[in-house]
Formats: sequence, structure tokens, C-alpha cells
Amino acid sequence: MSSPSPLHGFPSSPEPASAPASLADIRALVADDWAAVDTLIRSRLTSSVALVGQVAEHIVAGGGKRLRPLVVLLAARAAVPGKLPPEARHREAAAFIEFIHTATLLHDDVVDHSAMRRGRDTANALFGNEASVLVGDFVYSRAFQMMAAIGVQRVMEIMADATNVIAEGEVLQLMNAQDPDTTEERYLEVIHRKTAKLFEAGGEVAAVLCGAPPAVQVALAAYGRHLGTAFQLIDDVLDYRSDPSVRGKNLGEDLAEGKPTLPLIHALRSGSDADRALIRAAILQEDAEPDLDRIIAVIDRSGGIDYTRDRALAESQAAVTALDVVPPSPWREALARLAELGVERDR
Ligand code: IPE
Ligand code: IPE
Ligand code: MG
Ligand code: MG
Repeated sequence: MSSPSPLHGFPSSPEPASAPASLADIRALVADDWAAVDTLIRSRLTSSVALVGQVAEHIVAGGGKRLRPLVVLLAARAAVPGKLPPEARHREAAAFIEFIHTATLLHDDVVDHSAMRRGRDTANALFGNEASVLVGDFVYSRAFQMMAAIGVQRVMEIMADATNVIAEGEVLQLMNAQDPDTTEERYLEVIHRKTAKLFEAGGEVAAVLCGAPPAVQVALAAYGRHLGTAFQLIDDVLDYRSDPSVRGKNLGEDLAEGKPTLPLIHALRSGSDADRALIRAAILQEDAEPDLDRIIAVIDRSGGIDYTRDRALAESQAAVTALDVVPPSPWREALARLAELGVERDR
């Protein structure tokens, strides 16, 4: 069994069994897989149609955190310690999960009228909406070609269901837009679908490919679901509270689209009458240019940021708890640490 040292990257650690501290430490635990997945991502996006290659290369060259493939790789190592899927299929899975994510981003930036992603102009800003939507379809279907090549029926089922649910989540979100009466429950339904589902699928696919016991498959799926929920909750905080040059996306995009995310939903529940009127008007897009600074001040006064962070923390802790039935290993520790980092992140 190949077992990279969990200490890689911080030799001065006083506690030899301590978990990896940073995202870089976690990636170092799967360094070989990581490099192979990067090669796969680049090589599988080639096309004889020039514009496909240009648009795909543009978004992939922006990098991204690649958290979903990281979950797949760690889960595949953790599911049955010492046993990996045949023919390194976990690497293929990591790549096709990132492709599904990439395709949703190409479509999402059109839907959200976004101009910046991964610190660069969005594909729609550079190449137009048509090219973004169509290349998004190319990337989606390339992912399914890769799944079909693996030929594991259960994997196809998980991914077909996940992509279907993600699409529903995006539509559900559209239905909530400009609706100030959106409840926390409806908001959570959206983020479970649009974001958590793909993380959940990543954990489950990894476990299935390893032939892990059903309880471990369920646990890694639950881990992904909770991590993904925490991740989106934090994303919705960062939309009000982050440095665009670090995060690589513009601030205030949810508000600009009239999206009632949890910081706003909380402010609508607990703010003063005047504050609530301001937020309602912003969600209804009654002002051409809502004053983002005033809205942020209202969210802060209502405790909307802290409330959302607390919810994210609870999800992150639930992700860690889900790992209880996974056998102990450095990779399980890394998954646990990743859940913490998902809440601490600023990009
Ligand atoms: C962006 O996902 C979309 C959300 C679900 C918030 P990421 O923040 O993982 O995007 P990249 O891949 O790192 O750019
Ligand atoms: C990203 O959603 C797309 C999906 C999760 C399907 P958002 O619109 O919330 O994320 P960003 O802020 O554009 O990355
Ligand atoms: Mg968006
Ligand atoms: Mg969106």
C-alpha cells in the first residue's frame, strides 16, 4: 500500500499524527493523483472545433480551487484504505466531476450576468452568451462520455441524478429571485440541489468505485452533502464580505440579481421595520442601483453574516461526524480538515 506521510509539508509539527493544516497539505496527500487529474482535465477538453477549445481552455486556465475533485480523490483513498479503484478510475471520476462543475459555471455566468470568474473575465463576457452555453453543453456531454467509458451502471445513475437535481436547483433559484418572502427552508432546498448535490455525488462515486461497504458509501455521500452545503453558505457570505481580488468574483452579485440568500433572509426576519423595507426593495429590485454598503450595514446589524456562518459551521461539523463510519486513515483526517477549511475560506 502506498501511504504518503501525513506530515508532508510541516516537519516541525510536534504531533506526528496531526491532521494536515492547509489546503496545500491536503493536496500533497494525493499529489500523484492531483497531477494526473490535471493532465486528464486538459487532455479531455480538446476538440477539433476551435471555439470549443478556446472557451474551455479559458475557463480551465483560470484554475479554480478544484475542491470537488479533491473530495473524490481523498474519498477514494479513504473508502477502503489500501485499495484503490481498478485502472485508477478515481482519477477519471475526479476529472468528470470537475467537468460537470465547469459546465454549470459556464451556464451560471450567463444566467447571472456575471463578468468576473476566477479572477478573469467570464467566458460569456469574452466570447458571448451563445458560445458559453454551447461549450457548457460540450463540457457536460464530455463528462458523460467519460462516465460511459468507465461503464459502471451505479456511477452513471448517481451522476445522471445529480446533474438533473442541479438543473432543478438552478431553476428553483430562478423562481425565488425577486421574492422577498423566500424562506430559509426554500433557500436551503436550492443550495442542496445546486451545490451540495455534486459534492455528495463525488463522495458516493468514489466509494462505489472502490467497492466500499454500503455504510461507507452512504457516509461519504453524506460528508459531501454537508460539506457542499457549508461551502455554498459561505459563498453566500462572501458575496457580501470578501476581497474581489482574492475571491476572483465580483461582490454583491446575488443582490444585483435579486437573490434572497441567507444573510438577507435573516435580515428580513430580524431587522427593524426600516431595515426590512430597505432589503425588500433591494430584493424586488425597485432601485436601479441598490446601495450595497447600506445593505451590508443592515445585514451586519441583523446578525445575518454570523447567523449564516453558524449554519455553515454546523454543516461542516455534520460532515466531519459523517466520517465516523469511515475507517481511520490520513485521508479521512484530510477530509475532516477540508470540511473545516470550507468554512474558514476567503475565496
Ligand atoms: C463556485 O464554486 C460555485 C459555487 C458553488 C459557489 P467554486 O468556488 O468551487 O469555484 P472554483 O472552481 O473554485 O472557481
Ligand atoms: C454557481 O452558483 C452554480 C452552481 C452551483 C450550479 P452561484 O451563482 O451561486 O455561484 P457563483 O457565485 O456564480 O460562483
Ligand atoms: Mg453565479
Ligand atoms: Mg447562480
